[in-house]
Amino acid sequence: MRTSDPACPMTFPHDHDAEGRFDWLRLRLDELADADLIRRPFTVESAQGPVLTVVDDAGRRRELLNFCSNNYLNLAADPRVIAAARDAVERWGVGSGASRLISGTTSPHRQAEAALADFMGADDALLLSTGYMANVAVATALAGRGDTVLLDKLDHASLIDAARQCGARLRTYPHGDVDRLADLLARADGTGRRFVLTDSLFSMDGDFAPLREIAALKSRHPFTLIVDEAHAIGVFGRTGRGVAELLEVSDAVDVTVGTCSKSLGGAGGFVAGDRVLIDALRNTARPFVYSTAPPAAAAAAVVAAVEIVRSEPQRRGRLLAAAASLRAMLAEAGWDVSPSVSQIIPIAWGGASRAMEAQRVLLDRGVLAAAIRPPTVPRGTSRLRLSVMDGLPPDAPTRLLDALSAARERGVGAK
Ligand SMILES: Cc1ncc(COP(=O)(O)O)c(C=O)c1O
Repeated sequence: MRTSDPACPMTFPHDHDAEGRFDWLRLRLDELADADLIRRPFTVESAQGPVLTVVDDAGRRRELLNFCSNNYLNLAADPRVIAAARDAVERWGVGSGASRLISGTTSPHRQAEAALADFMGADDALLLSTGYMANVAVATALAGRGDTVLLDKLDHASLIDAARQCGARLRTYPHGDVDRLADLLARADGTGRRFVLTDSLFSMDGDFAPLREIAALKSRHPFTLIVDEAHAIGVFGRTGRGVAELLEVSDAVDVTVGTCSKSLGGAGGFVAGDRVLIDALRNTARPFVYSTAPPAAAAAAVVAAVEIVRSEPQRRGRLLAAAASLRAMLAEAGWDVSPSVSQIIPIAWGGASRAMEAQRVLLDRGVLAAAIRPPTVPRGTSRLRLSVMDGLPPDAPTRLLDALSAARERGVGAK
């Protein structure tokens, strides 16, 4: 489908650019459309939760089971989190006025940092507007020309972009391949500092990084270990700190990056670690220094959400039980759910067009599951990424399985 086709799901009609100023962009969009890689968000008309109200192009409102959110603990619309944000808006207003270093640091920002540091068992924490910015802050402040940054092939784009921006030499090891990582570390001996950047729970595959094995390499080839716990915070570990806590390697992790946008149900990112690390970031990390502070209300919401995660461990217990049960049901029905060990369960679908068609079949049955296509995942590995959320209705798994069977019957199934 071309962008000039009236049915094409793009926001601009063909003749808006009559002068042809952006023909080269239209060509690029046409190529994406031909490969079924065009993206367009649908409009959600409800708060984030287990069921979403969505409005389609014809203006019809529909209720959809939400199998595609990172709001894993269902805190995005928790009344206590909403109240904290609402009170903060009334007290502090909406905008922060300037960078944190100029006039943007309010007491909710400080409280959020104290709460995050305490929750993560770190000396200190630094709050930023997004998790993406937190990764850029860490990589660009710590690594530079002459250093080597080593990345897992499936690291999240924010880690890759962060590494690209820092000016260090980049080396990528195949997903989870610790031997190859050891080899690359050895080759980087004597050439500046070495940094290993990895997701702890991979966002598109639902598996863990081999953090124990990676940590064990430190004695042979010292390096700084930076772990992004975005999808694991609030879900894994005895106190919800993430995969490093679960695998008992927290002491080997030098820098932890997290988001407030997933299990914590809000917005923002953070870095947790030693006081000197956080002081250095506060002074030199460009996404912190040169960007307006996140709203105080976002920080207040973080404080409330952290308190809930700490005081209601049953939420992660329920979530993990629901995820294990869904993985078992899917496997029983013949779906390949490996390599997932978590609340993120990808179902391999191959080509982008087939994954999109499967998403449409599910949508017709009231189930929202995201078709994940290149460049988010490698070519030929498009998938439906299912994510489980605490609070899904009891019949959600069977409705999902019925919808997947319908996709399979329509000939678009992965198996
Ligand atoms: C592993 C990982 N790190 C960082 C981010 C970015 O976090 P944020 O959405 O808060 O910018 C994401 C997701 O979006 C992620 O999956």
